[in-house]
Amino acid sequence: MTDPLTCWRAHADACVLLDGFHALKHALRFGAEVPVAVTTDRAAALALAEELAGDVREALDTLLTEVPAKTYASLVPRPHPTGVAALAVRPSREANVRALARTPRTAPVVVLDNPRNLGNAGAVIRLAAGFGATGVVTTGTLDPWHPTVVRGGAGLHFATAVERLGVDELPAGPLFALDPEGEDIRGTKLPDDAVLAFGSERSGLSAELRARADHLLALPMRPQVSSYNLATSVAMTLYHWSATGGAPAAS
Ligand SMILES: C[S@@+](CC[C@H](N)C(=O)[O-])C[C@H]1O[C@@H](n2cnc3c(N)ncnc32)[C@H](O)[C@@H]1O
Repeated sequence: MTDPLTCWRAHADACVLLDGFHALKHALRFGAEVPVAVTTDRAAALALAEELAGDVREALDTLLTEVPAKTYASLVPRPHPTGVAALAVRPSREANVRALARTPRTAPVVVLDNPRNLGNAGAVIRLAAGFGATGVVTTGTLDPWHPTVVRGGAGLHFATAVERLGVDELPAGPLFALDPEGEDIRGTKLPDDAVLAFGSERSGLSAELRARADHLLALPMRPQVSSYNLATSVAMTLYHWSATGGAPAAS
């Protein structure tokens, strides 16, 4: 058997870090390829799996190698309370672009137009996964697979298609851009093939995205408030889609 540290080093460049038990659990659940997983306490991690993730317990049993706390600490930016870390293969751009372009679409694509905050991007990917959205596209320079975004997404990048694209490469479908100056969203039923676009935390929607938009929609907000946080805006919009007919049933 290859020593876990050698295996980790061999895969580190082509993979993303799964930080903690829950990120690893989600990634396995949604089909991620995980070449290496370590823990400081195998028995505790498997007990957690028994309690919270019976569906992936066997996979975890096969994958997890116990390592000394010092070795684990050398692999992660800061130790996670569960003492679990793993590497997962990042899906190819081609696979993501294919998934985003597939029609007919049964759930919207979320577009973040030049987002700046890595935590917001992670929270949005988690939301998209929860609502069964087709994917999350970012425009601009932020890498939606940045380690901080992956941490914020709790391993749920593997439950949806996450890719950076140009505005001119966005998937087909009616584009609904969210902006406080738009029409009240409550008067609109969002179709399953909608492309839902949200502006940057700093400057809102870009001129390029606005020019491409078919509809401009506003979330209800009293006049003295300028705007909502980006991730909460996505949450309200996906909830609106779900409440007006879309989205998988709650379990
Ligand atoms: C923090 S806001 C951007 C604020 C920015 N300073 C601006 O000038 O628009 C980030 C994004 O969230 C969405 N958003 C926030 N509040 C909204 C509202 N009341 N209605 C519709 N979209 C909203 C928009 O897509 C917006 O571009």
